[in-house]
Parts: sequence; structure tokens; C-alpha cells
Amino acid sequence: MAHSLDILFTPFSSKKLDLANRIVMAPMTRFFSPDGVPGQNVADYYRRRVEGGTSLIITEGTVISDPVASPHPNVPHLYGEKALAGWANVVKAVHEAGGKIMPQIWHVGMARRANEAPNPELPNAGPSGVLHNRKKIAEPLTEQEIDDLVTAYADSARAAKEIGFDGVEVHGAHGYLVDQFFWEQMNLREDAYGGDMVKRTGFAARIVAAIREATGEDYPIVFRFSQWKQQDYDAKLAHTPEELADFLKPLAEAGVDIFHCSTRRYWEPEFEGSDLNLAGWTKKITGLPTITVGSVGLSKDMMSSFKGEDSGTRNIDDLGEKLENEEFDLVAVGRALIQDADWPNKVREGRMDELQDYSPKKLAELV
Ligand SMILES: Cc1cc2nc3c(=O)[nH]c(=O)nc-3n(C[C@H](O)[C@H](O)[C@H](O)COP(=O)(O)O)c2cc1C
Repeated sequence: MAHSLDILFTPFSSKKLDLANRIVMAPMTRFFSPDGVPGQNVADYYRRRVEGGTSLIITEGTVISDPVASPHPNVPHLYGEKALAGWANVVKAVHEAGGKIMPQIWHVGMARRANEAPNPELPNAGPSGVLHNRKKIAEPLTEQEIDDLVTAYADSARAAKEIGFDGVEVHGAHGYLVDQFFWEQMNLREDAYGGDMVKRTGFAARIVAAIREATGEDYPIVFRFSQWKQQDYDAKLAHTPEELADFLKPLAEAGVDIFHCSTRRYWEPEFEGSDLNLAGWTKKITGLPTITVGSVGLSKDMMSSFKGEDSGTRNIDDLGEKLENEEFDLVAVGRALIQDADWPNKVREGRMDELQDYSPKKLAELV
């Protein structure tokens, strides 16, 4: 084994969460839960990743109880008796294999394509009812509707704890509902939830605080955020470390335990004048543990995959060095783990020649 990668297989310990190693499965939507109910195939899929050496699964986005939360009828719910029983079975499978698991709690907001989604007759939910190009397609959320959404996030988190999930991740990234509040292009509000950067974190901070209240002091809350948006890959919430600090502080104060910093390539510095990536800066600013993500083990980023291109493998010695330097604490692996459930074990055993290219065309065949 290359010495610099040993660090990936050392235990992680923090105030509320201990893990066997540093490898986390990134949340990845699968559309395999008809009517929102995850079945045995979902349990088997995640169990295989734990058997392959992943220590923490963050599930695909699973939606809160709101009629316009989901993009598709086959995206799982995190509410309702049947879906929760399905998730309890997934949790059991992952625990039996010795892993930990957190659901990613999701609402797509204005990114919903009504014609593909449940309840197509209902308008999308968003901070100002506008798309990123400012086109208005719905009314802004009312304060009552915002209160109800916050409650729905907390209810899903409470249910997650009750069925044995080891924590929760709030999906605050990629231009979905929570991120739409962060992004000034889609948040034109002039009340407590809109205006400067701190006010634009108000909705997310309320969600985190409500989850904390519903799940107690000791329950791990991970918060995923990104600069990039699916509507605009060059978008940035923070242009400087100072702006990033303004963004992170209210979230940390609301009760986030771990930040999951979504980038397309983990090796890219976030701001000029330092090699630190987004997870590096976030750890430095907040003092909290962070998860890095983006093209681990692969030469092309997620967007090329969405365009249907294959991606080759990529050496990750630089990742080991960053971990050694304590730039961040955990590493989320996405497509490489879709492609190969045994990716962590192969890396641990130095079987690099067995790592495979990622082919999005084969997605449906990969189990
Ligand atoms: C098929 C697919 C589905 C995804 N679904 C989600 C999702 O539900 N929630 C989320 O936060 N990110 C999602 N992502 C982004 C991944 O979590 C990850 O950040 C991204 O793929 C970069 O990691 P990678 O380069 O290791 O694949 C998805 C990515 C892929 C490829």
C-alpha cells in the first residue's frame, strides 16, 4: 500500500460521531424507490458499500413531507409508515455489516420539473417563486409555509433518529430549496429570510435549530453546501474567506456538527493565495470537522458524467497528503463507489490496477 493513503483507513472520532475510517459514501439519487418506499434492493445496495469498506453511508436525497418536495415518484420519502419501515430495513442491513448511515434530507424547491414529479398540478416552492433567471413561475413562500417546511424537516429528522439512523444530513447544496434561499439570484425576499448573506442563511439556520430541538444535543447533524448550483456551475455564494465565514457562522451556531463541502474537484484551491479547498477553509473557519468531495479516484468531474462521458481513474496520493495535513477529516466518494462497491478495500490493499473507469451509460446495471 502506498504509505500516503494509510491515513484514509484510520478511525475518525469526534464529539458525536466515531467512524472506522475516513471514507464516506456521497449522497446519490437513484430513482429506485417506487412511490417513495425504499425496498430490499436499496438495503442490499448500501450494505454492499459497507462490506466494500465504506464506513459511513450518506443516502441519496430523501424528501420531507411536502407535496412539492420531490422531483420524481421513485425518489424515497423520509416520512410515512411504509417509507420509514423501508428505511428501518436499510439501517438494519448497514448496521449488520458494521457501517453507519445517515439520510440526506431533501426538498428540491424551484428545481422541480412538475411534469416529472408527484402532484404536477401544484406550483413549485421557493423563496421568491423565481427561477435563477428571475423568471417568476410561482408565488413566494409565505411565512406560514416556511414554518411548515421547517417543521417537516424536523419531523423527518426525528423519524430518522427513531428508526436508528446515526445522524442526518441536510441537503443545503446544488441549487435546491435550502440553497435557493442562500443564493441572491433566487432569493429576492426583503423579510427575515432575505437580504445580506447572514439573513439568507436564516431558513437553513432555522431548519438546523429545529432538527437539534427534535433530536437532542447528542445527535450528529451534517450540513451539505456548495458554491456551484446545477442552474449555474460557476455560481459562488462566497468570493472570499470573509464571506465564507459570514455564511458558515450562523449555521455552526444553529447546531451543525460537520460540514460537507461539495465541490467538483477536491484538489482545486477555493480562494487565491492558499492551497486549501472548500472543506479546508470551512474547517479552518469553523473549527468543525469537514467532509471533502469531488472526483475522488476519477479524472473527469460529475458534469462530464451527466453528459454521458466515461471517466478514467486518477491517482489520489494528493488526497492522502491533504488528510495527513488535517485540511479536512473525511472524504466522500461518489461515482467511484457507484462503479465499484469494493473501491475502499481495493485502495486499502493497494490493488490500484483493479480500479475501474466510471461509465454513466452502465448506471442501471451497476448494483
Ligand atoms: C448519479 C448521481 C446522483 C447524485 N445525487 C445527489 C443527491 O441526491 N444529493 C447530493 O447532495 N448530491 C448528489 N450527487 C452529487 C454527489 O453526491 C457528489 O457530490 C458528486 O458526484 C461528486 O462526487 P464524485 O466526483 O466522487 O462522483 C449526485 C451525483 C451523481 C453522479
